[in-house]
Amino acid sequence: MSSKKLRVGMIGAGFISRFQSVAMEQVRNMELAGIYSLEGAEKLAASAKKRHLGPAKVFSSIKELAENVDAVAIYCPNYTRVAVMEEIVDAVKGGAELKGVICEKPLGRNVAEARRLVDLAKEVNLKTAYFENQLHMKMIKAQLKQLETQQKSMGSLTLTRSSEEHGGPHEPWFWDPTKQGGGVLCDMGCHSIAVGWYCLTPYDRPITFLQPKSVSCEMGLLKWGLPYWRYKLLKDTGVDYTKTPAEDFCTGIVTYQNPVSDQIVKAQFTNSWMFEKQGLRLFMDGMGPGYAFEINTLSSPLNIFIGDMAAEATANAEAALEKSTATRGLLPVLYNEADLYGYTDENIDAAQAFMKKKDAFLSLNYGLEITKLVMAAYMAAEKKKTIDLTDPDVQDELETYIPAIQQGGGGDVLPVL
Ligand SMILES: NC(=O)c1ccc[n+]([C@@H]2O[C@H](COP(=O)([O-])OP(=O)(O)OC[C@H]3O[C@@H](n4cnc5c(N)ncnc54)[C@H](O)[C@@H]3O)[C@@H](O)[C@H]2O)c1
Repeated sequence: MSSKKLRVGMIGAGFISRFQSVAMEQVRNMELAGIYSLEGAEKLAASAKKRHLGPAKVFSSIKELAENVDAVAIYCPNYTRVAVMEEIVDAVKGGAELKGVICEKPLGRNVAEARRLVDLAKEVNLKTAYFENQLHMKMIKAQLKQLETQQKSMGSLTLTRSSEEHGGPHEPWFWDPTKQGGGVLCDMGCHSIAVGWYCLTPYDRPITFLQPKSVSCEMGLLKWGLPYWRYKLLKDTGVDYTKTPAEDFCTGIVTYQNPVSDQIVKAQFTNSWMFEKQGLRLFMDGMGPGYAFEINTLSSPLNIFIGDMAAEATANAEAALEKSTATRGLLPVLYNEADLYGYTDENIDAAQAFMKKKDAFLSLNYGLEITKLVMAAYMAAEKKKTIDLTDPDVQDELETYIPAIQQGGGGDVLPVL
């Protein structure tokens, strides 16, 4: 290993690999050493080399990649998680000297898969990083630091509300609930549930200090189940929501208890793939006794205007904003999204941790806890009742629970017109 930089090998070369490679331009303790992917590796490698991110050598197997890097990053689709992790662990057993493994959210499509990933990493003593970027957002960290005095004098936050919303994902597999794990709750609920829990946690306590007590959730197929949108989805992606519907909207509340003071606090989450505004929006706010914070990523200090006459010349709206839905009018420009959403800081953290032979700030164990909360939310929507997480029978049930939507049988939960 070079003395100061962690040599990372990416598995997958799609959307998130490209985004993470942009983040890596801002990370000094990491280089892109290799890439293995079914598709797109050569293109990403060429672009990474131009940007001096490292050798970005293309490998033809996970084994070969693992033998030539310090850490691997799982950036391929959700349905490949377990098989990919098994190959990584086999490579380590075969002699690859990996310092750690990074896994993008969600850790698994269900608890059994997430637990399998945790167990596999443990089997070969791999240090781990679960990439939940929103906990690394500079704005989240800044508000926590800024309001530490208020937490000390008045008590910690009692309510958070957190949402991630956009108009729908880019690749067909995301829309297929059997491949992705569900709809927007599996895809983005994991972010909002995690960031809500984190912001509620008293500043001097570990991230899983607050005990999850119960989860409620409602979901709907509000836009993409309507005939026009359903046909469009079928035409564009091959996914038929009359047969395998998935939720494009969800909202719910996770209730936590402080195990020392017994105080009850609540985190509301809302996610949608039917957000009809400029593009992706992250919104978070929190209420403490006598203080509060609020974040809205669409409030950019940079706005541009493109009138109708000039709109034809617009080449790529997504260069200004992820999941942009408009190319004219008044548009916010988020000029450093990789940093804004926390990708830069999660990479810096993982590199520092692995070089010190430690788990990152968020380990795969943490990812498993988040998967459990997401599954409890599916269970709440399916059973139309609040799920009591303090009941040992419920905990047992969650271990093997696979939501009906994920099984491709979501018609009862999400009737389609
Ligand atoms: N943190 C975030 O905000 C965020 C954003 C987007 C995606 N993600 C996560 O990143 C992961 C990848 O999503 P994406 O948007 O990049 O998907 P994508 O479809 O754009 O890219 C997937 C890449 O993986 C490759 N691939 C597919 N199967 C493979 C396999 N078995 N072995 C190796 N490579 C394989 C594909 O060829 C492609 O290059 C998902 O788990 C997703 O949830 C996270």
